[in-house]
Amino acid sequence: MSKPFYLTTAIAYVNGLPHLGHAYEAILSDAIVRFKRLDGYDVFFLTGTDEHGEKVAKTAEKNGMTPKAFADMNAQGFLDMDRDLNISFDDFIRTTEPRHYKAAQAMWERLQARGDIYLGKYEGWYSVREEAYFTEDELIVDAQTGQKRTPQGTEVEWVVEPSYFFKLSAYTEKLLALYEQQPEFIQPAARRNEIISFVKQGLKDLSVSRHKSRLNWGIPVPGDDDHVMYVWLDALTNYITALGYPDMESVKFKSQWPAAHHIIGKDIIRFHCVYWPAFLMSAAVDLPRVVFAHGFINVQGEKMSKSIGNVLSPDDLIKAYGVDALRYFLLRDIPHGQDGNFAPDHAVQRMNADLANGIGNLAQRTLSFVFKNCEGKIPGAGALQPADQELLVHAYEKTLPRLRAAMNEFRPDLALAAVAELVSAADGYIDAQAPWTLRKTDPARMQTVLYVLCEVIRCAAIMMQWATPQAIAALLTQMNVPENQRQFAHVGVDHALKPDHLIEQPAGVFPRIELPAVA
Ligand code: MSP
Repeated sequence: MSKPFYLTTAIAYVNGLPHLGHAYEAILSDAIVRFKRLDGYDVFFLTGTDEHGEKVAKTAEKNGMTPKAFADMNAQGFLDMDRDLNISFDDFIRTTEPRHYKAAQAMWERLQARGDIYLGKYEGWYSVREEAYFTEDELIVDAQTGQKRTPQGTEVEWVVEPSYFFKLSAYTEKLLALYEQQPEFIQPAARRNEIISFVKQGLKDLSVSRHKSRLNWGIPVPGDDDHVMYVWLDALTNYITALGYPDMESVKFKSQWPAAHHIIGKDIIRFHCVYWPAFLMSAAVDLPRVVFAHGFINVQGEKMSKSIGNVLSPDDLIKAYGVDALRYFLLRDIPHGQDGNFAPDHAVQRMNADLANGIGNLAQRTLSFVFKNCEGKIPGAGALQPADQELLVHAYEKTLPRLRAAMNEFRPDLALAAVAELVSAADGYIDAQAPWTLRKTDPARMQTVLYVLCEVIRCAAIMMQWATPQAIAALLTQMNVPENQRQFAHVGVDHALKPDHLIEQPAGVFPRIELPAVA
């Protein structure tokens, strides 16, 4: 039985259509799961939309729509984005689905049965934008206007209402023990430290319902129709809804939980690293393995915002650069766990250097040479020279372990750098061996050189499928590598192409990208 690997993205609010930040999270997550599938894991990949709460309700109202109709429209926008970006999810969950109501209400009932829920009164600050509570001392006062804002800069309002509370305070020590015993739970380490120091200050009980006088767009609290569940308790539960919760005996639940990896942005670590494990502890559900927080994508050095008008839509980006190049840039260039920047000139430079001029050019020049000079067949190799062996070992043995180590730490940037190094070693090899000269001086040696290059291209392509799936599939098809021989297990001499293996007429798979006129 192959090892389970469950990965989730955050589920996006449907108060608008997706932007580059959402696209980045989807692409990063998709790259990781595709990598794991190629490496033989039994993957389950969940994404979806977070549809309740005040933020969605208010925006729907502003748009003159019911929350449900508004959610339907925008959820479709996320589904379309996923399709256009080749996001290979196994399930797309919407929190307005009946299966999720059932799971979230069951979750509530478990917490209640544990004695962790009580009725009280909430009096304090709330940010609708972040759907989060704030204490006075967490807020920042604007020197000019005197207005209070959250550290992320969103507005807060004073809320007084009857509310159910979750006894989060009772979990302070248990959470600290979790961070200690399972250090990989919060990644990268800087985020872990942030959470530890937050929890060490002691936790207050958490308001987990909203009174219907204020909000009724939510999942009803079991047994009390005057309240709906706090959107984060509702939303976090999606990760187990999709596995069949509350049925923890289902095949999916038993095989995939707790092999869970939650990929989220840095702005929502508190919900995932503090509230979520506390809810799960209370409900007696095992804890997920990892929460990985990525950074934010800025555009030309500035935070994306509607008021600046620099919010980039995935749709426009795909039109300008193509889906594979866009994926590649984001995976290769955004630094690990840190904020990244999208600047068109830099993006185009990276895309062309690594794709059109990198693996694309290596494949195109090698395969067209083979096609023309070897009757469209992979030639046979003669005795290998040290330079051949060195390059083959680089492709067969040295690269994949580096990729695995990098991807275990959610570092596609490093993994792709390792593939780029292999490609550049192959470029150096071509220049040194000069097969075009060998064609006249030593045709047998030319054949060996081309054979080695085809093998390097085959392996490099297999190792890059997760990043740029469409173009690489086309390349492997040109090389007539059967679809069932494109797993990582096929990287290596044991699955080498046989001499006389026919290839198709090659055509470049990574076109050169022009800087869009309106960048
Ligand atoms: N609905 C909550 C998540 C609930 S998970 C149980 C939410 N939604 S969101 O739409 O605001 O954000 C969805 C994801 O996109 C989050 O992980 C968030 O960090 C990420 N991003 C939003 N803007 C981003 C960038 N500019 N850059 C990178 N990721 C960003 O939070």
